[in-house]
Amino acid sequence: MDINLSEFLNLSEAEQAQYARGKSILFAQQFTREDLDFHCRLANASRFIHARDEGADFMSQLLRNKVCLNFFIQPSSRTFLSFNTAQTYLGMKRMSVRDLKISSVSKGESLADSIRTFISYVDLVVMRHPDEHAGAASFWVSEKAHRRIKVGGEEVAIPIISGGSGTKQHPTQALLDIYTLEDAFKNVGGIDGKTLMLVGDLKRGRTVRSLSYLMKNYQDVKLLFAAPDKYQMGEDICEFLDQHGIQYAKIESIEKGLAEADGIYMTRIQDEWDDLAPTSGHVKANENFIFKEAFLDKMKPHCCLMHPLPKRDEIEESIDYVDDPRVYYWRQERNGMWMRVAIIAELFKVADQIIDKAIEMGFKG
Ligand code: CP
Repeated sequence: MDINLSEFLNLSEAEQAQYARGKSILFAQQFTREDLDFHCRLANASRFIHARDEGADFMSQLLRNKVCLNFFIQPSSRTFLSFNTAQTYLGMKRMSVRDLKISSVSKGESLADSIRTFISYVDLVVMRHPDEHAGAASFWVSEKAHRRIKVGGEEVAIPIISGGSGTKQHPTQALLDIYTLEDAFKNVGGIDGKTLMLVGDLKRGRTVRSLSYLMKNYQDVKLLFAAPDKYQMGEDICEFLDQHGIQYAKIESIEKGLAEADGIYMTRIQDEWDDLAPTSGHVKANENFIFKEAFLDKMKPHCCLMHPLPKRDEIEESIDYVDDPRVYYWRQERNGMWMRVAIIAELFKVADQIIDKAIEMGFKG
């Protein structure tokens, strides 16, 4: 890369995404429709072969000589654990740093130096960081550093995968959300032509932002943004949707969008970004944006109810245990693990081996 760090960070996300494409995963804008369809097929193939001992053994050999670091300095349960599980399934050796207090950052080391140190030892860094530019900066450092590894016969820099950066992006969550939507809509023509209602804290919800970017890959989709004014979707996303001719509307309650929505994507108030007193507790969801059990009766027969999790009061608790296949968020969570197998397999160029093995074992997808 013949560009210095500050020049790189001054580029738009779309421009940075062009540099990262095929090398690291930082932004949802990196992905084309072909990429998304392939990742979904690969996730299905991975799931298929892993269900059989022969396939699980095969998969565990694919990246057995690779070491990865999960560098998560913001809280995480499912992204951290699903990446760990995916890496285990692929045979990778794993390490983690979850607390800067026990890294040399506490002695004044810069992020750039920390990343350069990490990539001296490992072949992949998955990172969650509160700074929205940390992933891009880490990518630049990795591209500039001398260490290269062999992937699919090519010498490449150590890949960086964002597991959530600031309030702006959570690209691997968006990929698993697409995988979940594809499953939910498999009998009704897929994602094209569907209306998704995104609910809650859309302003600081990095999952809904990344998912909105991915909508550029689908035909005739519409987004309904159901949020209180103070949490409404950012203008940058609305401009992106305008540029790509994607319809959207801002609405004042879940009920306003229930009859139209093919998918409902709930989010919690992201109050970790507020300056809250330690004793003040969590911000409560506004009544108009709480999904009630009674709403299930008003949803379309194929409509799916999703949530990236963790959740709080924005979904009525009784819904967790209703016997309704349209309640998708627990399956969505597990889908994340398979999509993360696919993401790593594709980055490390072992995807075709998984697909070939799956076909040999009877996979029809
Ligand atoms: N969806 C998600 O990112 O969950 P975690 O914060 O638990 O990783």
